[in-house]
Formats: sequence, C-alpha cells, structure tokens
Amino acid sequence: MPDCYAVVGDPIAHSKSPLIHRLFAEQTGQDMVYEAIRIDRARPFAPAMGALVRQGYRGFNVTVPHKLAAHDLANTLTPRAQRAGAVNTLVVEADGSLTGDNTDGIGLVQDITELVGLPLTGRRLLILGAGGAVQGVLEPLLAERPAALHIANRTADKAQRLAEAFADLAGETALSAGGLDKLKQLDTFDVIINGTAASLQGEALDLPIHLLAPDGLAYDMMYGKAPTPFLRWAERVQPAAERRDGLGMLVCQAAAAFEIWRGVRPNAETTLAQVRQKL
Ligand code: ATR
Repeated sequence: MPDCYAVVGDPIAHSKSPLIHRLFAEQTGQDMVYEAIRIDRARPFAPAMGALVRQGYRGFNVTVPHKLAAHDLANTLTPRAQRAGAVNTLVVEADGSLTGDNTDGIGLVQDITELVGLPLTGRRLLILGAGGAVQGVLEPLLAERPAALHIANRTADKAQRLAEAFADLAGETALSAGGLDKLKQLDTFDVIINGTAASLQGEALDLPIHLLAPDGLAYDMMYGKAPTPFLRWAERVQPAAERRDGLGMLVCQAAAAFEIWRGVRPNAETTLAQVRQKL
C-alpha cells in the first residue's frame, strides 16, 4: 500500500495540487498517492481531520479556508508556521500527532529568486494586502534582506499592525506600512507583490503609474487561465517589467511540502512548465 497524502480545502475540485504531486512523484520515483479532499467550510475542521488521520494519511496540504484551523489543530508548529499564523503543510507523525509547517513564503521566495531569477537582496519591495496571505510570506521575504519592504493595504491600520508584528525580523530592511491611497507619495519599487484578494474578485487596484521600475517584477500571488487585473495593470504601465502569476509559488510551496514528507527535492521549474501547459 503506497503512502497517502491529500490537500484539504473548500472548494477543492479545481486544485492543481494532485497534478503537481503526481508529477513530483513520477519525477523522483516515489510510490505515493495524493488526493484532493473537500472539508466543508461550515463544518468543524478538527473531527474531519481526525478521521483522515485514523484512515492512515501521512500528510496534508491545507488550503483556503482551513489554514488558520490547521494552525490551531497542529500539536507542534515550526517557527515559520508560528510567524505565518497559518499552516499549509501537516505531517502525521508516527504517534499520530500533527506537525504544522508553512511553505508558502519559501515557495514565493524560491519562485522569484530561482525560477524568475531575480535576487531580492538590496531591492525595494512593495506588498499589496495585509491579510493572511501576506502574513504567511513576510518572514521569508525579510530573510532575503531587501533594502525596503513596504506593506500597503486598503485598510491602512492592518498594514501598520503587520509591520509592527514583524519589526523584530527587519534587520537592515526599512520596513514600513500605509494605505493604498498613499502609494503615490512613494518612490518606484523593484518588485511589487499582489497579496490582496482583489484579483480573486476580478477587480483592479487603483495604483499610481510610476510605481514599478522598468527592470522590475510584478508578481500576483493569484493565478488563473488569463492574466489577473493586477498583471494587466503592470503590462499597461510598465511593459518592460517582468510579470508572473502565483502558479510558480504554488508549485514551489508544493515542492517544499513534498521534500518535508518524502525527503527528496523535486525540480519545481520542470514541473511548473508541465503544469502551465495543462492549465
Ligand atoms: P487572505 O487570507 O487571502 O489574505 P484576507 O485575510 O481576507 O484573505 O485578506 C484579504 C486582503 O485583500 C486584505 O488585505 C484586503 O484589504 P482590507 O484589509 O482593506 O480588507 C484585500 N482586499 C480584498 N479585496 C480588495 C479590493 N477590492 N481592493 C483592495 N484590497 C482588497
């Protein structure tokens, strides 16, 4: 019987994770099964997970809307999952207890620095949004030692609170925060990461046209068949800059989870090209 893993979320039917992990398993010769399981968002998370653990699953990826519940459920948290305040990877230990980790941030950083090939060290970074998605990636982004990291959010207070919560990790990085409406007062950024839910709703953010450097990168943590409104904005105001959606982050966070479970590191770049082709 091969080891079983699953991604849990709601909705889950369109998850790319089963495809990604099947490709990883083929590539690395691992004998395993990976499924997508819907856990109803209206139902308590813990009993549903308990049932899956008793069925013998060895690990889980956790996606919307259960990342906070998984954080609360885990018996042990890695330091980065504690900082993220959310769990996207669970390991079922030999005694049945759950270790919670978060690979979203390292996935994002790997995609930008290795797959896109843009070092973040010494760069000016702008993050749009101040929800769970952004909190989940701040620690690994700060670890790259950007020159500046500004968090801009529609609700400025939330951005401010996030910047305060991560101030101890800033080191040499100028960490700041403010409202989306104050962006016109700021200098150009090398990298702009959209971590708001605006793309999900098909909405464009109202951003000043000077914001992105010509040799910069516009990165949307969301992805879809068509470019997101944020990436279309970037193309319009700064066509010379690079543009990426969140599919690379998805593959890279999955690669990190796969390595945690199986002890072997799949090639994220090859897999991303395969997944992109099937999208
Ligand atoms: P997630 O866990 O996906 O980050 P969240 O915690 O609900 O979800 O956060 C959603 C983020 O998207 C927030 O930063 C939100 O801004 P507010 O804090 O002001 O609500 C942002 N957001 C959602 N829709 C938006 C829109 N139409 N324009 C700008 N920001 C938006």
